[in-house]
Amino acid sequence: MNLFDLLSARRSVRQYTKEPIEHDKLQQIAAAGLMTPSSKNLRSTEFLVVEDRALISQMAHCKPRFGEMLQQASAAIVVLGRLESHAWVEDASLAMFAMMLEAQELGIGSCWVQVRHMVSEKIGPDGKPLTSSKDLQELLHFPEGFEVEAILSLGYPLHPIRPRQLADARPFRVHWGKWE
Ligand SMILES: Cc1cc2nc3c(=O)[nH]c(=O)nc-3n(C[C@H](O)[C@H](O)[C@H](O)COP(=O)(O)O)c2cc1C
Repeated sequence: MNLFDLLSARRSVRQYTKEPIEHDKLQQIAAAGLMTPSSKNLRSTEFLVVEDRALISQMAHCKPRFGEMLQQASAAIVVLGRLESHAWVEDASLAMFAMMLEAQELGIGSCWVQVRHMVSEKIGPDGKPLTSSKDLQELLHFPEGFEVEAILSLGYPLHPIRPRQLADARPFRVHWGKWE
């Protein structure tokens, strides 16, 4: 599929069949994330691929309501940034998008679950809600010095996906020359 068709075809998919995703396809999706550029070539992004449905389901609690699709997901990739890079958010976001496109190419539905700046439904020792990233750290045991940018929720789409038309993408947002 050419790139523009792939961009049109990719939509957020939040309902999945129960079919597991083949391990080699998950490897290919993660590989797409590895292939993205990074600021100063620091490669600040790390990937935690989770296939255990029970664990993925627990991850949903880190993002009340907007992470609910994880309850049905066949797999999830937690995308983390090494905080010592000033551009870890941009690096991680590029990796997320590359993986979304790769998933689409493989016929797998995906949805970005935002984690950075979000809070969990769990309350921390100080009586305040835990950040979503801290909640995930307690569950997944990643080391200090990292923060979760987002989770990529994955599964075979339960329903056909309607491609986006360029006309629906608000093309008037492209400005030429001076903005006037
Ligand atoms: C940075 C970012 C954060 C997002 N966070 C969530 C989220 O937490 N939960 C969710 O269901 N969708 C999330 N989405 C998906 C958007 O809602 C979706 O991309 C948007 O509505 C456009 O629809 P489309 O992906 O089908 O083109 C996120 C998307 C982006 C790019």
